[in-house]
Amino acid sequence: MAEVEVCPLAELPPGSVTAAEVDGTRVCVANVHGEVYAVQDSCPHLFANLSAGELKGASIVCPWHDSEFDMRTGSTKRWLPSGMWDLINRTAPPMPPFLEAKLKPSRIRAFRTRVVDGVVRVSDD
Ligand code: FES
Repeated sequence: MAEVEVCPLAELPPGSVTAAEVDGTRVCVANVHGEVYAVQDSCPHLFANLSAGELKGASIVCPWHDSEFDMRTGSTKRWLPSGMWDLINRTAPPMPPFLEAKLKPSRIRAFRTRVVDGVVRVSDD
């Protein structure tokens, strides 16, 4: 288990996003209405940095193709709405569940966060 200090909580006000690194993995850290959450920073589609995306409520939106992930759980809320996936969904017959599960990740990795003495900390346990 590795735990790192990210920044003072005062430097991450509600609605803001930053990046950190935990044990060699880039992490996207966001303040969602006063609660701090962290997920992997690399989008599972083409590896854009999610920390460069937009925080909408509790969701981080990928800056490249608008996939959306819940910062609280890592669950995928939208997958490729501005890309090929949307085209397939609109034009092709429904995909078998096993194939959809392979092509569309149900979640990304979430990390544990805590605030200690006013400092945001993230760990990979
Ligand atoms: S890189 Fe994130 S949706 Fe394409």
